[in-house]
Amino acid sequence: TATRTFRIAAIPADGVGAEVVAAGRAVLDALAADSRADSQGAFAFDWQEFPWGCGYYERTGKMMDDDGLERLKDFDAIYFGAVGWPTVPDHVSLWGLRLKICQNFDQWANVRPVHFLPGVQSPLRKADDTELDWVVVRENSEGEYAGLGGRNLAGRGQGGEVAVQSALFTEVGCERIMRFAFDLARTRTRRKVSSVTKSNAQQYGMVLWDDVFRRVAADYPDVETESVLVDAMSAKFVLRPEDLSVVVASNLNADILSDLGSALAGSLGLAASANLNPERRFPSMFEPVHGSAPDIAGQGLANPIGAVGSAALMLEHFGLPDQAARLQKAIEATTGAGILTRDVGGSASTEDVTKALIDALNA
Ligand code: NAI
Ligand code: MG
Repeated sequence: TATRTFRIAAIPADGVGAEVVAAGRAVLDALAADSRADSQGAFAFDWQEFPWGCGYYERTGKMMDDDGLERLKDFDAIYFGAVGWPTVPDHVSLWGLRLKICQNFDQWANVRPVHFLPGVQSPLRKADDTELDWVVVRENSEGEYAGLGGRNLAGRGQGGEVAVQSALFTEVGCERIMRFAFDLARTRTRRKVSSVTKSNAQQYGMVLWDDVFRRVAADYPDVETESVLVDAMSAKFVLRPEDLSVVVASNLNADILSDLGSALAGSLGLAASANLNPERRFPSMFEPVHGSAPDIAGQGLANPIGAVGSAALMLEHFGLPDQAARLQKAIEATTGAGILTRDVGGSASTEDVTKALIDALNA
């Protein structure tokens, strides 16, 4: 059979983004190099790297080129590092690049698995990598990150300023992310979806969310459900994580909960994420959950596992589940052998872990 080539746009952007994207590329290229031996046939990756980010902004006044979306739209996927640097206000860098891509490419489902890995110490009591495993499904197109509102609305100027930040909830937006969560739950051992809101305090958008959840749940009688308020859910992440399988929540709530989940698994550096356009009209984007980590950037300390796990999610998206599983096994073999970066208690460098991952692939 002919070699399948996947065209991937790499956007390392800022800080540790460059280090972890380089690691992910090296691991994926190693996987492709001996892909002929595999039952799914030969495949290759055709990378194109874009220099966008805060450094680019300082040189050009733009986070990405004006025709950037046009140039990205025909790629099979986008492999993203992290955006943000202390020299550029965070809302400028985030909206100028990452949120611009997510929103214009209608990547409305953000999938964020929480994996507990062998060899990584979790701060959770009795945490066990064979029992704990859940996925946060984040609504990624509206909610609290709709960008609705304004500043200085009352025209009172400095000292008396008034700002409004509104959240947008549409029935269509709620329903599609919930159906996505239920469909995902059906692929898992534990068929359960937990819906998260703060509908006791936010009586319009989040009550709509709750209503839609009840309606959608009726179509999935084989899937167990619960509705939990976000404050209670944050406690549940710590106290009863074994009761979680798929957790679906709005943009802001899921953003916070997935950081909590990855911290419980041992480090923010472990967490992977996929920003999916499930209709495949636009490229989907794969990135670690963490940011640019300015405190450790450029020192070879970044944990590449979040980025490499995101590459595994990209392989699944490409229809290569066996390869994704092979990569996930290599991650587990590496952590299980105690080859760990500093954030998870080890002393290995980014490069050491990357090399161990590649060796584990070929073992
Ligand atoms: P952060 O995720 O960059 O760092 C939080 C903590 O986790 C730091 O102590 C950092 O050293 C550690 N950490 C993060 N990634 C790690 C890795 N791969 N290996 C080991 N340790 C790691 O979040 P922070 O500090 O709040 O934000 C820094 C910048 O990143 C800001 O400009 C922020 O806007 C941006 N950001 C970007 C995101 C994205 O592009 N998706 C997501 C979150 C933040
Ligand atoms: Mg976050």
